[in-house]
Amino acid sequence: MTDWQKSDWRKKPRVQMPEYTDAAALGAVEGRLASYPPLVFAGEVRNLKAELGAVSRGEAFLLQGGDCAESFAEFAADSIRDTFKVMLQMAMVLTYGAKVPVVKVGRMAGQMAKPRSAPTETVSGVELPSYRGDIINGFDFTPESRIPDPERMLQAYLQAAATLNLLRAFSTGGFANVHEVHKWTLGFTDGNEVQKYSDMAARISDTLDFMEAAGLTTETNHELQTVDFYTSHEALLLEYEEALCRLDSTSGKWLAGSGHMIWIGDRTRQPDGAHVEFCKGVQNPIGLKCGPSMTSGHLKALMASLNPENEAGRLTLIARFGAGSVGEHLPRLIKAVEEEGANVVWTCDAMHGNTIKSSTGYKTRPFESVLREVKEFFAIHNAEGTIPGGVHFEMTGKDVTECTGGVRAVTDEDLSSRYHTACDPRLNASQSLELAFLVAEELSARRQTMQHAKAG
Ligand code: PEP
Ligand code: CO
Repeated sequence: MTDWQKSDWRKKPRVQMPEYTDAAALGAVEGRLASYPPLVFAGEVRNLKAELGAVSRGEAFLLQGGDCAESFAEFAADSIRDTFKVMLQMAMVLTYGAKVPVVKVGRMAGQMAKPRSAPTETVSGVELPSYRGDIINGFDFTPESRIPDPERMLQAYLQAAATLNLLRAFSTGGFANVHEVHKWTLGFTDGNEVQKYSDMAARISDTLDFMEAAGLTTETNHELQTVDFYTSHEALLLEYEEALCRLDSTSGKWLAGSGHMIWIGDRTRQPDGAHVEFCKGVQNPIGLKCGPSMTSGHLKALMASLNPENEAGRLTLIARFGAGSVGEHLPRLIKAVEEEGANVVWTCDAMHGNTIKSSTGYKTRPFESVLREVKEFFAIHNAEGTIPGGVHFEMTGKDVTECTGGVRAVTDEDLSSRYHTACDPRLNASQSLELAFLVAEELSARRQTMQHAKAG
């Protein structure tokens, strides 16, 4: 890998990337970004990789979540805070269920470039290029706004830097104190309709009280008031990724400086394409979306090129098949992984295979489908004797109405009330936390079965 260059992707076929018309403007932006500081440090990336290595062995569990697309318009401290807060709540509930640490990775601080199913969009007879995320073009349905503008990369960089700054402050500045996090969760389980979750919440309260009594207080135990929180995004816009790519002097290896973990989307994972070529050469943990069209042969080729040394924590396979379809696809991919003896993290993106159009015309996802896909994912791993390592959600800490269902049910008619997403529909805070309780039940049942098997 020593002769890999960060610009090698330019020689490969690329899909889903914009054609910038002003080469001089693009070059100027790339030059500026290349001179700016990277957003993440190689040591952090190595820590995340080690933690994901633990996930691959079943010694930790991965929670990855956040916006489908971060937007310039919704950029504000309280959206970042609310998503961070609900992820910490989810992580605590999941830790309780799994009895292992939860690795927290936000789809945050750089998740701004979007692959699209069609290159153009038609509204009332007018056809324009599709919106590709705020780092590329504008959401407004006008010809000017849909022209890819390289200057947007600079704004995206600044937004990512400010987001990461706030996340770092929240992670260590007292906001992440376990008692506070649990207090918020108790606020959720207070309502009548969510009674069924109050049992587990009460058991968590008991555990915290016991720890406190035993002298494990937040004053003396730094771990109880800080968290490690990592960032991730789809590495789609390779001009941006290349400009932030840096040589890490400690290891002599390349680092994608744009975020801790980057992933390759389901539409850009051609084994010989530009996106795989870029990701191959950087040392960050890499995610790989695996949709229904992923064959065993492709997966084997991708594992060989993305993780030639079979390093644990390097590669996370993000399964996204849709409820009802996991059984048709996941077993063949698990088999491919087992045949290669590959070290991977298996995680379940229960969002992207479950998008439907509501009776009221909105793109939505039913809570039941999301839950069902997670359950199918667990059932298959339990049957195959492999490890369901994590979950991946599009979610926000805000009280939006974008996905239907949940105990505080959002109906098709409700969708119009607070439908704010720049791209795909997200779970709201209540739906996200409810899912965490349900996934925690799965994890706890799995742990008990394994303990019985061991004892028997
Ligand atoms: C996404 O994660 O927002 C996305 C576009 O996913 P996929 O590549 O799996 O369709
Ligand atoms: Co999405």
